Amino acid sequence: MIEGVSLRKVFKIGILGRKKIVAVDNVNIKIKDRETVVLVGESGSGKSTLGKLLLMLLKPDSGRVYFKGVDITDLNQRDLKKFRRKMQLIPQNPEDALDPRWRIYDSIAEPLRIHKLFDKKEEEENRVFELIEMVNLDDELLNRYPHELSGGELQRVVIARALALNPEFIVCDEPTSMLDVSTQASIVRLLLRLQRKFNLSYLFITHDIELANAIADKIVVMHRGRILSEAKHRRKIIL
Ligand SMILES: Nc1ncnc2c1ncn2[C@@H]1O[C@H](COP(=O)(O)OP(=O)(O)O)[C@@H](O)[C@H]1O
Ligand SMILES: [Mg+2]
Repeated sequence: MIEGVSLRKVFKIGILGRKKIVAVDNVNIKIKDRETVVLVGESGSGKSTLGKLLLMLLKPDSGRVYFKGVDITDLNQRDLKKFRRKMQLIPQNPEDALDPRWRIYDSIAEPLRIHKLFDKKEEEENRVFELIEMVNLDDELLNRYPHELSGGELQRVVIARALALNPEFIVCDEPTSMLDVSTQASIVRLLLRLQRKFNLSYLFITHDIELANAIADKIVVMHRGRILSEAKHRRKIIL
């Protein structure tokens, strides 16, 4: 599904950008169809940066990214657009993905509008209602603003939005770490159900070793920008 080869990303920081941080250092990673690769590692080890490189939300300083065998590393924004819809990010903080000034309906409809999926308002509405139902939320929420929803509800909205364009690969970047334990479990179950239903491939970033054990087909450990170890794994949760 997606492969990163020899990926490297250096951030220049400080005044005049004299100091450098090697956030991702010569990383090879591959996520197969329908697979969940769990990425663990201490804070600052480069997990989020690696996720963004695979999604081409950041450009690597060197290395390549392949989506289904196609090298997407050097595509311009216009050519990247058709791959963008196949790859989505679910961030740690749902507020980062939603505009606080917009009703939930418009946040979910936005990707449909950007990619001009429907001509008619009615078709768009049908799709938004279908998406909100997919994540088990009441359509009454569509009229509300983000601050009128709980953290778990917001994360479901972010998932609905991420699903809008029928993606095949999703980076889940600590999607449950801001939520309380019981809400965490229900979001994880939802993500696993959706994975099975839509044959999704996940790069799932988490600090939670127990969660990693429950859902991983492969566990990759990062340390200071590098991959320290990588092991096949058998999921404990089978839905
Ligand atoms: N946009 C950025 N500008 C400068 N430094 C960054 C940026 N993003 C991440 N970093 C740095 O790169 C390193 C890796 O960060 P990150 O990928 O967010 O780690 P993790 O997700 O594992 O906590 C950290 O030292 C972080 O401070
Ligand atoms: Mg991170």
